[in-house]
Amino acid sequence: MSGLITMDDLTNDEILSILDDAERLLPVARGEAYLPLLQGKILGNLFFEPSTRTRMSFETAMKRLGGDVVNLGDVKTSSVVKGETLYDTIQMVDGYTDIIAMRHPRQGAAQYAQDSAEVPVLNGGDGAGHHPTQTMLDLFTIRQAHGRLEGLKVVLAGDLRYGRTVHSLSHALTRFGCELIFASPDVLRMPGEIVEDLSSHGATIVETNDLLGSIDTADVVYMTRIQKERFADEDEYTKVAGAYKLHASNLDGVKESMIIMHPLPRVDEIHPSVDSTRHARYFEQAFNGVVARMALLCRLLEIEVPGGEA
Ligand code: NCD
Repeated sequence: MSGLITMDDLTNDEILSILDDAERLLPVARGEAYLPLLQGKILGNLFFEPSTRTRMSFETAMKRLGGDVVNLGDVKTSSVVKGETLYDTIQMVDGYTDIIAMRHPRQGAAQYAQDSAEVPVLNGGDGAGHHPTQTMLDLFTIRQAHGRLEGLKVVLAGDLRYGRTVHSLSHALTRFGCELIFASPDVLRMPGEIVEDLSSHGATIVETNDLLGSIDTADVVYMTRIQKERFADEDEYTKVAGAYKLHASNLDGVKESMIIMHPLPRVDEIHPSVDSTRHARYFEQAFNGVVARMALLCRLLEIEVPGGEA
């Protein structure tokens, strides 16, 4: 296996086995056990776009497993401002590190980096493209709550056009036979080529503008932020800003077991009144980023997580 650029890089069996590894790493992520599986290994964190959770959870994952991290740091203080190309930056970091986690504003940049690097590249988000490591922690969170991935009814809501988390997640959920409901304003619908790709994988999809009318029978409601930074025109953003808001008072008729997820950061999509309901899972979801990324780092560095089947 080289890197992880899209969910196509993993088979369903690989996904499930990485989630099993992640499960076994929970005590290590919580700091209850120390397991230096990645001692002597260095992760290069290259974040060309803002990030809190993805960057910090990669760093936490590496350090909890005894490894080390070098950061590109603030792009403004790196050689990128002197005009260094992505190719040259990657060539150099390739020599400094054993594995790279990268986020970049350009769609396709992660694949480009993988094509020019010897070490594995983990795509931490490429523009409005993909975000497969987020999908792994999302799947972990869903399986933790429901005990399975297969056959669930999942509402994906908000900015389905520019939201890379839902691009990767809808692909994976389709492969596990989930029923998908896409709730978005018309201008932020899931791109046609993604819907076509999902349909060719046998997806069951309903597209709607009506979020609140879709949640009563759902097992998972996955909210997303409107991706302001991807809009060419600020006025277009203003028209859809605040389009979907979930409040605790909207949850009366939902299934007891339904979970509400969000990759975070949230703006106003989920009212704080939801936080104390039994349905809120977004903070656990963010914590799960550590175990999911630990398991991915081990898998890509070909280090076995103890406790699995031989
Ligand atoms: C997401 C992203 O960067 O795509 N954040 C994250 O990684 N948790 C979602 C977002 O920024 O809205």
